[in-house]
Amino acid sequence: MSEQATLILGDSRYELPVVEGTEGERAIDIRDLRARTGHITLDPGFANTGSCESAITFIDGERGILRYRGIPIEQFADGPNFVEVAWLLIFGRLPTEAESRRFSAELTAHANLDEGMKHHFEGFPRSAPPMAILSAMINALSCFYPELFELEDDDQFRCAAARLISKVRTVAAYAYRHSVGKPYIYPDPKLRYVSNFLHMMFSQPYQQHICDEAVRDALNLILILHADHEQNCSTSTVRIVGSSQANLFASCAAGVCALWGPLHGGANVEVLTMLDEIHRGRVTPEEYVRLAKDKDSKVRLMGFGHRVYKNFDPRAKMLGEVAERLLANLGREDPLLDIARKLEEIALSDPYFVERKLYPNVDFYSGIILRAIGIPTNMFTVIFAIGRLPGWIAHWWEQHQGSVTRIARPRQIYVGNTEMDYVPFDARG
Ligand code: ACO
Repeated sequence: MSEQATLILGDSRYELPVVEGTEGERAIDIRDLRARTGHITLDPGFANTGSCESAITFIDGERGILRYRGIPIEQFADGPNFVEVAWLLIFGRLPTEAESRRFSAELTAHANLDEGMKHHFEGFPRSAPPMAILSAMINALSCFYPELFELEDDDQFRCAAARLISKVRTVAAYAYRHSVGKPYIYPDPKLRYVSNFLHMMFSQPYQQHICDEAVRDALNLILILHADHEQNCSTSTVRIVGSSQANLFASCAAGVCALWGPLHGGANVEVLTMLDEIHRGRVTPEEYVRLAKDKDSKVRLMGFGHRVYKNFDPRAKMLGEVAERLLANLGREDPLLDIARKLEEIALSDPYFVERKLYPNVDFYSGIILRAIGIPTNMFTVIFAIGRLPGWIAHWWEQHQGSVTRIARPRQIYVGNTEMDYVPFDARG
């Protein structure tokens, strides 16, 4: 007989089934809890709540393990390109060469935006945050492809996924070009995914940007390392929006909004700001760490800590190495990297961080790499979004195809007023 958990409530005992995943993770299945007991569970921040069963990404936060469809993240360090990893995440296995070529061809075919969309960019002020533009434009894509609202079969879904993965980089690059008052650069069908993005970001109408191989590889790896991270805030948002049967574009636009926040994807911007403040001498690394430990200061050591990783974040380790390698390849030095290393050293030998198991996360080093590439700080979270998109799409599709398709609708414990009467103005005290 499979394992059961016993819940004792007053004089009653309830047997609850225990579900086990393929890596031995266990959950008490409380699907029928309210119907059987009249009680719900209370778990703010969902730290103990499994919202779904998923076969996409496995994380063991205690051992610092991250795997996409079973493949350890470290194995992506020198091999595949981002498009191949996107396919793996979305379709559940590595593509054949023919599938990979076909998907790449679809991305190339769909890279352009409808000309009508260009006018939307004009309406935004120059200072508009690129994440706001990205979310608005991904949502606006729904208007141009309404035929993709109802995804009947795998082919239609693949077409929608290819459109979105391809166009997101065009939207991102156009948002940047608009913010600096430069003309939009059309995608070049001869270029591959990452080089094409850098071309749209940095080419001039009179001069094509030639992308350095080390830069291309570093950005490729950044995108891969951000591609999925199971039920994080933005992915859960995509699933929640998708559970109402909202279309893929609308669901992913919501994911962008969730990612924007400084406690999630927006942390990569905050990290750079923090490193820059230290570099300018406004605060020393030691003082910053002290502030981060002081609960009254509201300061956190940005790029540190993670809901799931209670050991090192393998992505941070890889990105720290990429930052060193890229700067060496470019023959440059960046004082912010030294400051980051110093902060890491201080924090990891401080009992506050050790006891709470706070380690550098994915955002700690990514900004230093993006800065070396020439990506402006306000585009950092946009790059994260481009990387995370395959993960969002994979989760949206997994949920869409799944047998459990109930709308996500948590409950609450109400703590407000008990019943009271409405009082007209003239009778109020
Ligand atoms: N600096 C200082 N203290 C911290 C930090 C930090 N970066 N992170 C957590 N803590 C402390 C908390 O104050 C808390 O202390 P307490 O037990 O004395 O109250 C304890 O560690 C646990 O922290 P929680 O906030 O409960 O952890 P949670 O899992 O809710 O939050 C989060 C995780 C949001 C990532 C948090 O660590 C944080 O704010 N980090 C900084 C922002 C950041 O880097 N975000 C990017 C995360 S990765 C990503 O989303 C891509």
